[in-house]
Amino acid sequence: MPNLIINPAGPLRGSVTVPGDKSISHRALLLGALAEGDTLVRGWLPAEDCQATLRCVRGLGVSVDVVDNALDKPGFSEKPGLSSASALSATLLVHGVGMAGLREPADVLDCGGSGTTMRLLAGILAGQPFTSVMTGNEALRRRPMARIAEPLRRMGATILGRDGGRLAPLTIRGGGLAGIDYSLPVASAQVKSAILLAGLFADGETIVREPGPARDHTERMLRAFGVEIEVDVAPAPASVGPYATIRLTGGQRLAATLDADGRAVIDVPADISSAAFPLVAGAIVPGSEIALRGVGVNPTRTGLLDLLAEMGCALDAHQPCAMDEPIADIAVRHSRLRGVSAGGNVIVRAIDEFPIFAVAATQAEGTTVIRDAGELRVKESDRIAAVAAELTRMGAQIEERPDGLMIHGPTPLTAAVVDSHRDHRLAMALAVAGLVARGETVVQNAEAIDDSFPGFVEMMGALGAEIAWRE
Ligand code: S3P
Repeated sequence: MPNLIINPAGPLRGSVTVPGDKSISHRALLLGALAEGDTLVRGWLPAEDCQATLRCVRGLGVSVDVVDNALDKPGFSEKPGLSSASALSATLLVHGVGMAGLREPADVLDCGGSGTTMRLLAGILAGQPFTSVMTGNEALRRRPMARIAEPLRRMGATILGRDGGRLAPLTIRGGGLAGIDYSLPVASAQVKSAILLAGLFADGETIVREPGPARDHTERMLRAFGVEIEVDVAPAPASVGPYATIRLTGGQRLAATLDADGRAVIDVPADISSAAFPLVAGAIVPGSEIALRGVGVNPTRTGLLDLLAEMGCALDAHQPCAMDEPIADIAVRHSRLRGVSAGGNVIVRAIDEFPIFAVAATQAEGTTVIRDAGELRVKESDRIAAVAAELTRMGAQIEERPDGLMIHGPTPLTAAVVDSHRDHRLAMALAVAGLVARGETVVQNAEAIDDSFPGFVEMMGALGAEIAWRE
């Protein structure tokens, strides 16, 4: 299994564009498939997780052309005095089949390791008058599915699965749905999206009430496809408690807004969850100065930026333009960080960033506390236990708590042989930790990085990191 070898780095410098947003890439395919007519998706992320959605959408009879795939021609270019890396991305042409156009799949739909694929697709399949079966890899088959199965059953779908319908493989017999009024038990965008997507096929109104600011890419993109969707955000959002109410009525058709050339185009911004790794590397490796271009800064995703700013990190986000999804260029400089306390809504807004945030906290003066983050236990790995175990191996002072972590810093890290737990975000966080550790760090089973960030190693190398693959 491929290992990553990391040696402590000198200053990291340069300007990079990380690959496209994973959440938005999934949604562009799914909504493009349900739309009438063709949708061009530019900057689509060709990572393993999104390839799973592509496979499933094709399995449902939707034809998708890959018109340009930058993976075929590695896009790294060197400028004198400044390394510059362009993202690995693809352009897709999705031939939408309309709301009634999906076909019963001839085989099991394989979601790989992608929770977003399985949960969002479940919402769509719940609306189809046929039977489909979804499975995934071992890790995905351990992740909780009752959170989507329960509301979708209430809407009228039949969902069977292992462990009383709580675990994949899932068999879904859809059709005949009625809208529901549902309060999410956890602030999960995947669950919210599954219900809203099923709501498109349901009779009457579907209402989703969310307890915190779960990412709202589905709502924004539905609007871009012409769906009438109403979102009421609580006037003074408490740090925890009722946040937003989303309403849509079933039976609407999807047709993308056309650009000046009469084309339906979705431009996927760079993924802030991928930008998080060079960003924190820039903040903790002495002398570094990094710029990240075109990063999606949807306010439901920018919790890490807020936390880093509170830690004293020198960050500058210049917002060049705002589309359906706002984007910004972000500059970061090596900074003296101080520990902070993270809980409440910022947890939801930074939910995928805690492995790398924990690495930043090991280098911050004082204690960092992460609480209200029990959801981290049901991600690609148990990220509370895994982050604590692996960073402890590198000498971090880190304590596991039921709903988070307590990290004491600053700690000089020492190189170690650590394991990714087959979790892409853990693998990349440990690689960044290796940049400030004494000696040679080995991250085992690091190939999981391809689930979200193809080209991570090359991009970090272009910035000046000493990082390489070894079988
Ligand atoms: C995602 C939502 C989040 C996030 C995941 C992607 C999405 O999961 O952790 O990586 O695209 O909707 P939850 O909705 O389960 O919190």
